[in-house]
Amino acid sequence: MCGIVGYIGNKEAYPILIKGLHRLEYRGYDSAGVALINRRGELSVYKSKGKVSALEHSVDGKDTTGSIGIAHTRWATHGEPNEVNAHPHYSMSKQLALVHNGIIENYKALRAEMEKNGVVFCSDTDTEVLVQLIEYVQHRHECGLFEAVQLALKSVVGAYAIAVLDKAHPEQLICARKGSPLIIGLGTSDQGAHEFYLGSDATPIIEYTDKVIYLQDEEVACMDGSGALEIVNLANVRQTPQTVTLQMSLDELEKGGYPHFMLKEIYEQPSAMRTCIRGRLDIVDKDVLLSGIIDNKEKFLNARRIIICACGTSWHSALIGKYFIEEAAQIPVEVEYASEFRYRNPVIYSDDVVIAVSQSGETADTLAAIQLAKNRGAFLYGICNVIGSSIARATDSGTYLHVGPEIGVASTKAFTGQVITLFLLGLAIAKEKHTLSDEMFHMLVDELQRIPDKMQWTLDHNPNIDQFAQMFTYCKNFIYLGRGYNYPVALEGALKLKEISYIHAEGYPAAEMKHGPIALIDEEMPVVVIAPKRGMYDKVVSNIQEIKSRHGKIIAVVTEGDNTVSQMADYTFVIPDTRDCYVPLLAILPLQLLSYYVACAKGRNVDQPRNLAKSVTVE
Ligand code: F6R
Repeated sequence: MCGIVGYIGNKEAYPILIKGLHRLEYRGYDSAGVALINRRGELSVYKSKGKVSALEHSVDGKDTTGSIGIAHTRWATHGEPNEVNAHPHYSMSKQLALVHNGIIENYKALRAEMEKNGVVFCSDTDTEVLVQLIEYVQHRHECGLFEAVQLALKSVVGAYAIAVLDKAHPEQLICARKGSPLIIGLGTSDQGAHEFYLGSDATPIIEYTDKVIYLQDEEVACMDGSGALEIVNLANVRQTPQTVTLQMSLDELEKGGYPHFMLKEIYEQPSAMRTCIRGRLDIVDKDVLLSGIIDNKEKFLNARRIIICACGTSWHSALIGKYFIEEAAQIPVEVEYASEFRYRNPVIYSDDVVIAVSQSGETADTLAAIQLAKNRGAFLYGICNVIGSSIARATDSGTYLHVGPEIGVASTKAFTGQVITLFLLGLAIAKEKHTLSDEMFHMLVDELQRIPDKMQWTLDHNPNIDQFAQMFTYCKNFIYLGRGYNYPVALEGALKLKEISYIHAEGYPAAEMKHGPIALIDEEMPVVVIAPKRGMYDKVVSNIQEIKSRHGKIIAVVTEGDNTVSQMADYTFVIPDTRDCYVPLLAILPLQLLSYYVACAKGRNVDQPRNLAKSVTVE
């Protein structure tokens, strides 16, 4: 969603803030802004519609000096994306400037109350209400910024991560969070002085320090230019923060010679999957070692059900996980859209295990879904990529993907990492429950170990997708079909295409075609069919025949050496043979590339598609 950066120390803040905004731009990108206090104590706010580069351009020639500042890249929720609604927002007197991520639910009531008392607003945003409220409280209680922020936040309903500057206190940067992440980086300048960095995630901080503090809900922090840090809760009780060392490297945040993060992340999948399974698959002893399962064995052995809550791509990987866990570990699994689950009074038993699958670990709907499950006594397990994220911290136990930061907005390596992690989980439970024969268990372990190499093979043996993709740039619709484990791949392939190319695409279970969607087939309609020589191959061949006879264009994902489907299809992508359940890990790769190249051919901004954000921290 939106991104926050902040700095206080003895360096020039502006270059740090701008670089940080560029790193956070993947989270949201319809406007950007920066606030600085210069050495004469003047507070300036610069903002502009569009990307961070537009902000840089508009700031050209203006005074950007000062060693304290805050900055923001926005993904609009309240108020259209324009300069007025962009952050930072001034208070009425222009003494304060504030940036905010999240949503203030009672902003209308707060605004009405302040307007009655003479406060004048100039934007439509809930964020302006926050900064005005802080100033209002400062005046009413005649207190400093740190105290005013604590008092103001007590009357706020909603989610926030904020950073505030006060012209009267150029030595203080104040921040607070509830439901929206905020990280404080603890740095030391070349002269040995303490300095503080602020980020909505670690990406703008890692270049300067790997020592960070994850601010907790309802905590307010005061970072002082002298190097002092004080953290209190909303009741003004001092908190003892825990300093954590980040495991991320700067290289992981760069494009590494690729034109887009998405392409880099597609090609990174073999090595990312090796990291994901490292230490968890024991090939010598043919074993799966997942500490989250080992430590909570009884919870999984006694689970009445597993409920997986997720959104978007993570929901698709959850569906593959369901098929596998039910098959291997014989536990009923339900997969829920977190956004629906949280609002429909679902039946949750105390002996249910509820798994949240989320790349960012910050998705508001998924977080709310597990909070609901927690209140009903279920055991919570998190499958997240971002270390220390809200979902990772809100769950009782879990497994990290360890696939490295995913910057491209369209999820690629996180999807395959989630699928592999769910396979590891299913295998680990199956081992404890003895639901698979030793022979089958060993075979599945062996084959999972080979998957990264087979992914590499797949990436190496499907050349020219870029040229082939050109033919489809004028298409208005696509259909994706798959059966069994490949039905979720059809859903994911369709989502990838629509989110980055803006071509309408739908995924269906192949056999559902005849119940309606077949009416859409004509010579204009490309149909992508996942047709490996496994599982329901013959049935998929029949589905292809039905489409052919209606002149649909077939793009098929086939197993190496397959002749039948290859002869029927207009174009084929090849994958090596593997177990039925592991096909999704290979079949999705050419589909990711197809989406990527169609989007590039249409001139789309692949890494930052319109209207989307990397981490959806609003409902
Ligand atoms: C699609 C995509 C989204 C996310 C969804 C959930 O490429 O990235 O559909 O999968 O917003 O996000 P996480 O996994 O962070 O909870």
